[in-house]
Amino acid sequence: MCGIVGYLGNREAVPVLMQGLKQLEYRGYDSSGVGVLHRKKIKVIKEQGKLEMLERKLTDKLNTNIGIAHTRWATHGGVTTENAHPHSGPEGKVAVVHNGIIDNFSNLKEELQAKGNVFLSETDSEVVAHLVEEYIDLGPEQAVSKALSRLDGTYGMLFLFRDHPEMIIGARNGSPLVIGIGQEEMFLASDALAFAGFTQHAVFVDDGEMVILSNKDYRVVNRQNIQINKNVEELDMSSNIKDMQGFPHFLLKEIFEQPKSVFRAMGRGGRLLPDFGTALLGGLNMEKRDFYDIRKIHILAMGTAMYAGEIGKYIIEDLTRIPVEVSDASELCGINPIVEKDTLFVAVSQSGETRDTIAAVQEIKQKGGRVLGLLNAVGSTMARMTDGGAYIHAGAEFSVASTKAFTSQVTVLALMALMIGRTRDISLTRGKELVQELMDLPDKITSILEKADEIKKMAERIKDHHSVMYMGRGINYPVAMEAALKLKEVSYIHAEAYSAGSLKHGPLALICEEIPSVFICTSGDYQEKTISNIQEVRARNGRVLVISNYEDDTLRKVADELFVVPSSDSLLSPLLTIVPCQLLGYYTALALGRDIDQPRNLAKSVTTD
Ligand code: M6R
Repeated sequence: MCGIVGYLGNREAVPVLMQGLKQLEYRGYDSSGVGVLHRKKIKVIKEQGKLEMLERKLTDKLNTNIGIAHTRWATHGGVTTENAHPHSGPEGKVAVVHNGIIDNFSNLKEELQAKGNVFLSETDSEVVAHLVEEYIDLGPEQAVSKALSRLDGTYGMLFLFRDHPEMIIGARNGSPLVIGIGQEEMFLASDALAFAGFTQHAVFVDDGEMVILSNKDYRVVNRQNIQINKNVEELDMSSNIKDMQGFPHFLLKEIFEQPKSVFRAMGRGGRLLPDFGTALLGGLNMEKRDFYDIRKIHILAMGTAMYAGEIGKYIIEDLTRIPVEVSDASELCGINPIVEKDTLFVAVSQSGETRDTIAAVQEIKQKGGRVLGLLNAVGSTMARMTDGGAYIHAGAEFSVASTKAFTSQVTVLALMALMIGRTRDISLTRGKELVQELMDLPDKITSILEKADEIKKMAERIKDHHSVMYMGRGINYPVAMEAALKLKEVSYIHAEAYSAGSLKHGPLALICEEIPSVFICTSGDYQEKTISNIQEVRARNGRVLVISNYEDDTLRKVADELFVVPSSDSLLSPLLTIVPCQLLGYYTALALGRDIDQPRNLAKSVTTD
């Protein structure tokens, strides 16, 4: 879960590498470092802590045009300067930055230690630098290739060589790597975001490939050393520059961006066909008749993306009558999942790089399953391994806590449900109704954001509690789950979600004055029952905050605090009720002085098992 970037060109390398690290900081932020060629030596500067700690150390101007850099999320070895990357070989001939995990590093380390090698860190990655240096007399390419042949595990890696000042070598196995091609300059990074602002031209490296980079050229070879011709893709990186645009945090900026991002998820209206009461997602690569054959839809995802999938389940089942299963992708692997021909698998992921979801997709595909991807990151690993899909077009999301990606995922799942539903049961009238409801969403979200101050006041009352319960019924239950995740990950207050119906089956024992509850209670089928549950909580001295899409005397009476979002079709209500919950997480974390965009222990993209 680390970010890596390399640069070779005519510019001063350190500022370019630092800019790249800033863009990649979402992948890990517990330490960072750069390695550059300087006065015929590899100079490594690294530091524990946030990127600004490294910046403070980089006081001297290093005149160099080549270097590699790393931002870390610790796996092997604690968060220390010694464990930060780059790592060098014993004689300083090679330096490496690594994203991934080398499973057999202990054996290799013992072997090298027996030869007298001394290691300075506890990391698995340092072993790789030593190993390459062991073979360096074969020449850099051969040395890397031979070292790679001895590694088990996952890696996206970059190597810098003391005696080859015009070369960076990169290798990929299970962790992403992408080449950026500029004018007489080259980039090599774990994510194209690293070179956003420098070039839009990218080549995605596949597993088992090695890249040999000079400032004018690149070569990609496979494990048999056969040269591979790769496509150069042009990426739209316009919305990918890390810029808070006047907001104090990315989280708040991204919450406030949702009227626009939801509109983009609808293809700025282009994915909706109002006259036909349907939606069009061309990238699914499926014909009308393919939709008839689907007997089951199985969604694979993690975290927030999984909760989007849970909401998608309600929408899809309602509109298509196709049963939907949602799996925590990390639980799917290794249990020999059932893959039937008429099941359509859908991987949902913001980054497209989440290890658990990738592993689940791999397993399903190996068993012959068809997998679509609903993804945000263009050209990501999942985008290239799925059989089709749709981008959610949320734009780059930098806050670790996912917000705009969530609403865009739900929006695209709703479009997919509408598209499949219209080829099956739902009427033109119902289809038209839903298209209109979808088109109304951006304005409704805007009207919620205009009342953000109300939520700020609620947060003041939540912030001193050590635990909060979130509850809802039906489609509101996954909203409660996502809302609880938002609060816990940014405020560090323990939050748990339950279906309101399960309250009496145990969780009610927790209710007391000290543990407030947030109920998602919308009009419709479950309204009365949810009100009863709220009353049960109130009767036990529990304080209740209600997020609703209607208001009446009963609700006003039972709620200690009430926040009302605009009414909508019940299937789309999660796209509105989640917004105050996101704000509640944000303002609570703000009141507690938390590190909002980079919560402790987390990284945006979970790229290790
Ligand atoms: O990139 P993905 O959507 O695959 O990420 C999945 C989860 O890791 C992610 O949603 C995580 O739960 C977020 N931090 C939640 O805010």
